[in-house]
Amino acid sequence: TSPRIHPVPEPTGTPRLDLVQRPRRNRKSDWSRRLVREASLSVDDLIWPIFVMEGRAARAPIASMPGVERLTVDEAVRAAVHAAKLKIPALALFPYIDPTLRDPEGSEALNENNLVCQTLRAIKAEVPQIGLITDVALDPFTSHGHDGLLEDGRILNDETVDILVRQALVQAEAGADIIAPSDMMDGRVGAIRAGLDAAGFTDVQIMSYAAKYASAFYGPFRDAIGTAKTLSGDKRTYQMDPGNGLEALREAALDVEEGADMLMVKPGLPYLDIVWRLKETFGLPTFAYQVSGEYAMIEGAIRNGWVDGERIVLESLTAFKRAGADGIFTYFAPRMAERLAAG
Ligand code: PBG
Repeated sequence: TSPRIHPVPEPTGTPRLDLVQRPRRNRKSDWSRRLVREASLSVDDLIWPIFVMEGRAARAPIASMPGVERLTVDEAVRAAVHAAKLKIPALALFPYIDPTLRDPEGSEALNENNLVCQTLRAIKAEVPQIGLITDVALDPFTSHGHDGLLEDGRILNDETVDILVRQALVQAEAGADIIAPSDMMDGRVGAIRAGLDAAGFTDVQIMSYAAKYASAFYGPFRDAIGTAKTLSGDKRTYQMDPGNGLEALREAALDVEEGADMLMVKPGLPYLDIVWRLKETFGLPTFAYQVSGEYAMIEGAIRNGWVDGERIVLESLTAFKRAGADGIFTYFAPRMAERLAAG
């Protein structure tokens, strides 16, 4: 019945399709598959997010992120040494701030001796060759768990930006290489760029979370930094609606105009279309964040024996590369780097 079948008499008598193109030819062996592969993952693509806490020589498990722990500053330095050995280019730091230090204004964010600054200095002293990325947003520091100032249930944009600029300066002063605003306030990239430049930090890069969605995939992260229980309401008045794609282009266009050096999309796998659109449109270094909920889903399934852990992590990270990402924030970074090093 199929018009495309032209049985040709063969020596063996087997019917054969009359095809000029047989895409399977390129997949016939491992060497050929490697030869034609369009995107592949290297250790240079990995950014390792770590959680830091007060104290000494301790690690604390995070229930919803099995295999990930909060680290004291000295343990964070050890993690950085390990990362540098593996040639992971950069770490991203996220603090678990003691609840007694949190207040409605997030004032601890501006303490030049806060946990983030201590960690920056300690790692820079021991492992100066690794890149350090810091998150600019107030949520680890506020008693209400929001990224900005809250007044009568509303997030104040411009007042928040003013504080974020000061937070960025405190981080740059302590040694941050890349400032990554994840707060989604309007106008913050331009304000932070101006603030950094005025203070002489013209070489400090800005990686803007250009397209950050209001996502349920951040749940385990909020456990990790201790905001899961305290967060009042949700973040939908500043983080983006998951149904929107064109809006991500508008957000990114503003960040590029305002001076962003790099763009980021978050969460990761469910938003690969956004990674692709931003990369195609702006051509800037573009990053994706495989967030805590993605990690939890994958790692949970691995630990249950439901999926092949070795392969699924590599496949998920390679998918980011195929979508155009230049790098990926992933809690799998050290494990993946070890595997890549083993060949
Ligand atoms: C906060 C911030 C969040 C993440 C990174 N920075 C959570 C949030 O917006 O509530 C999430 C990262 C993850 O889930 O792994 N500004």
